[in-house]
Amino acid sequence: MTAPSLSRLFSRGLTRTLLTPHAPEHYARSLGVTLPDDPTGATVVAVDRPVADVTVLTLRLPDGVERPAPGGALGIGVVIDGVVHRRHYSPVDAASRADGLATIAVRRHPGGAVSEFLWHSASPGMRLLLGAPVGEIALPDARPADVLLVSGGSGITPMLAIASTLAGEGHCGPGGPGRVAWLHYARSGADVPFADRLRELAPAGVALRVIGTAEEGHLTREHLEQVAPWHSGAQIYLCGPEGLAVGLESALGAERYADVHRERFSAGTGTVPDGDGGTVTHLASGVTAHNAGTTLLEGAEAAGLSPAHGCRMGICHTCTAVRVSGATRDLRTGEVDAEPGCRVQICVSAPVGDVEIEL
Ligand code: FES
Repeated sequence: MTAPSLSRLFSRGLTRTLLTPHAPEHYARSLGVTLPDDPTGATVVAVDRPVADVTVLTLRLPDGVERPAPGGALGIGVVIDGVVHRRHYSPVDAASRADGLATIAVRRHPGGAVSEFLWHSASPGMRLLLGAPVGEIALPDARPADVLLVSGGSGITPMLAIASTLAGEGHCGPGGPGRVAWLHYARSGADVPFADRLRELAPAGVALRVIGTAEEGHLTREHLEQVAPWHSGAQIYLCGPEGLAVGLESALGAERYADVHRERFSAGTGTVPDGDGGTVTHLASGVTAHNAGTTLLEGAEAAGLSPAHGCRMGICHTCTAVRVSGATRDLRTGEVDAEPGCRVQICVSAPVGDVEIEL
C-alpha cells in the first residue's frame, strides 16, 4: 500500500480522531508503508547536564537534513503552551561526524523560555522541531591557514566545532598546513562544558587558553599575543557577548576588527497576529492569494498552483516547503509557529496572518 492510497481511505478531518490513541504514522508503518524520515524534527537520544545551567543534548537528525558547516547553527524549536519557540544552537561536532547525531549545548538564561524548558524537561525520546541551518560564520571549504577563535560563554559551541574539525583534519598538528589558537572566556573554569573534548585539542595542535574572567579579567591584547603571536595574518572568528566584541575591537583596532567573522544568534521568532487566515504569497511562482484559514496546500491549489504532495494528512512529508515569513498553525495540534525560514507541511498548516511561502 502506498501513502497516497491511504489518503483515499481516510478523510483528513476525521483521521486523527478515528485513529486515536495512535498517530496515523503508527498505523501506516504497521501496514508496511515506508515513510520518509520527518525532516522537520530531531529526536533527543541523550541528555547531560555536565556543569551548572547547561543542558547538553545529543540529537538524531533525520536522514537528508543538512548539517550546518562547522560554526553554523541549527534552528531548534520546542512547543510550550501551544506556541512554538525557536532558537539557534551550533552543534559542537567536527564536520567528520557521520553517525547522524549532533550535540548541542543550551545554557539557561533568566526568563529564557526554551533554555528553561530544556533544562527542566529534556529527556531521551523527546522530539524537537528543526529549522534550516543558519549562521553568519562557517568554516569555508578552503581552510584558512591560520585561524584564531575567540569565544565567551555559550559561544564555545561553534568554536568547538571549528577547532575539532581543523584538529581532526590534521590542519594544525605536526606537519599540518596551518595554525589554530583559541581564547575562550568563562566566569570560571567550572562553567565550561565539554572538558573531555577540549582536552583532545592540544595534542592535535590547537593552542587553547580558557580564561576565567572572575580571576583573570577580560580580553586584552596580551591574551591575543600570548596564544597567537601570529594573529595579524589570521582569520579571526568571534562568538560571544557584546562586551567580548568590544574588547576584541579595542585590542585589534577598528580596521583589523572589521575583518573579524562574528556570529550573533538571535531568537528570530516573528510575531503572531490575531486570527487565522491572511494573504499568502507564493514566492517561487509569484502568485498571491487570500487564504481564509484552510491549509496552505488547498489555498495554493485554489490559486491555480500544483504543489508536490502525497498523503495530504501530514504523514509523508512530500509537501514540505519553506515558510519564509509569517505564522502558520499546525491543524493537527493547534500549535502556532512564527519562525522565519522554517520547513512546514503545507497539507496540515494554515496561515495565521500574512505568509510568504517558497512555492
Ligand atoms: S505530509 Fe504528505 S502531503 Fe503533506
